[in-house]
Amino acid sequence: MPDQTLAPHDEQANSENQEVRTLPPLVSGARPLVGHALQFLSDQYRLMERGYREHGEMFRLRLGRRPVIVLLGPELARWAFKETDDSLEIGPAIAFTRPLLGVDFYYLAERSEYLHQREIMLPMFRARTLTSYLAIMERRCAEFIARLGDSGRFDLPEEMNTLVLGVIMESFLGADFVRHMPPTVASDFRDFMRGLDPITPSWVPAPHLVRARRARDRMHSAVGDLIQSRRAQPVDPPDFVQSLMGAHARDGTPVSDRWVAQMALGIAFAGHDSTTGHLSWAVTDLLRHPAELWKILAEQSQVLHGGTPLDLATVHRMTCLNRALHETARMHPVAPVILRRAVRTTGVRGHTIPAGADVFIGPVFSHRLPTLFDDPARYAPDRYLKNPGQVAHLHGFGGGGHRCLGEHFAGLLAHVTVTRLFQHFDLALTSDRPLPVRTPAFKGVRSPCRIEYQRREKTDSGRI
Ligand code: HEM
Repeated sequence: MPDQTLAPHDEQANSENQEVRTLPPLVSGARPLVGHALQFLSDQYRLMERGYREHGEMFRLRLGRRPVIVLLGPELARWAFKETDDSLEIGPAIAFTRPLLGVDFYYLAERSEYLHQREIMLPMFRARTLTSYLAIMERRCAEFIARLGDSGRFDLPEEMNTLVLGVIMESFLGADFVRHMPPTVASDFRDFMRGLDPITPSWVPAPHLVRARRARDRMHSAVGDLIQSRRAQPVDPPDFVQSLMGAHARDGTPVSDRWVAQMALGIAFAGHDSTTGHLSWAVTDLLRHPAELWKILAEQSQVLHGGTPLDLATVHRMTCLNRALHETARMHPVAPVILRRAVRTTGVRGHTIPAGADVFIGPVFSHRLPTLFDDPARYAPDRYLKNPGQVAHLHGFGGGGHRCLGEHFAGLLAHVTVTRLFQHFDLALTSDRPLPVRTPAFKGVRSPCRIEYQRREKTDSGRI
């Protein structure tokens, strides 16, 4: 029977009957014109659950006129990560980010330029550099803890947002930038992120897009000033910005100031909302599961030595916290769907993926596949103790050559924040069950999500 819901795109890409027959099956419930778009925007998880129930790990949606192939499970995710930059590409799938990030920004650039930029970036995310970021995280966290005083209430997403912004600014733009940055930085960051809108075309003069472009320009100008002053007076040892300034383009010429600003800001933007969301979920998960929190407090009393700053070795010994963070990443992947576009017709598991189709890798549902995880809706960090191999099923940080560059950075900040918060305070959620944000980008915790806190007494030994 012919598939009445095929968009013109499908028909063009699949002029041969053979290919039409092997398209992945369409999920039920597509509406005229919009297809599954409204359902996708309101609840990606439910839509994918339906697709899985009807057709298994590979199926098709229609978002407006565009065909979307959904791939579930780690095996198909690995296939898509391997195909990336070959039959699948990132740039066309997230073309809506180009006006703000820049057409030659990192994963939006053409392949050889991307590889060149990655070569420049990788050393800045290795263990030795992470140690310097760790010191910034500890100091910023200590300031946050001090600012809280002895007791009170705070809105978790808002405070995590401020903390992460401070850490990211200092790590990727420098302490001197933080000292002199314009007071609009926090709102510029928020406006910029709201401008990463996959739905409204960039030529529409929508207020949020106009605000986002203005925010971008203000940030570029502020970072441009920083670069000028760094050219006159470099910092030694070089920090992130200074290292970028010392880089060379592919033709061997020194990189431009515009490029340095674009990279530093792009990295800061890539890491901000995602990490804020992950930290917020990590705290709420522990507060909602006191037995798991107790295990973490017990681990702290074994591993921590009073107020001694955390180093990488101590973080590695916090295996219980590590499992809890994996479980948060499993249950609340802040990048619920990872986007690709097929640039030529390809196929997997006997199905065709036509050129022009979007391909969605869906950790939001894959992380809860009953075939991979027992009782998948249950928060159970010890599942990785019993079966450490299950960590490999998680792909909330992507995979393959484009795996998240900031994964360890985000993990470290989560370790520091969770450790210090629970070391110093008894905390309780006052809100009902935390909800995800409504925006289509990173799925953090929706504000307000209030927490009540009471500072713990110090013991005689000086330990907290
Ligand atoms: C919990 C926090 C984070 C999550 C869940 C996350 C998630 C992701 C995901 C899923 C990708 C892969 C995108 C793809 O394959 O299309 C990615 C890539 C990337 N992330 Fe993150 N991220 C986080 C934090 C960060 C941080 C803190 C930074 C930087 C400071 C960062 C920088 C990047 C960059 C530069 C890429 C592009 C890598 C490439 O294409 O080579 N991320 N991230």
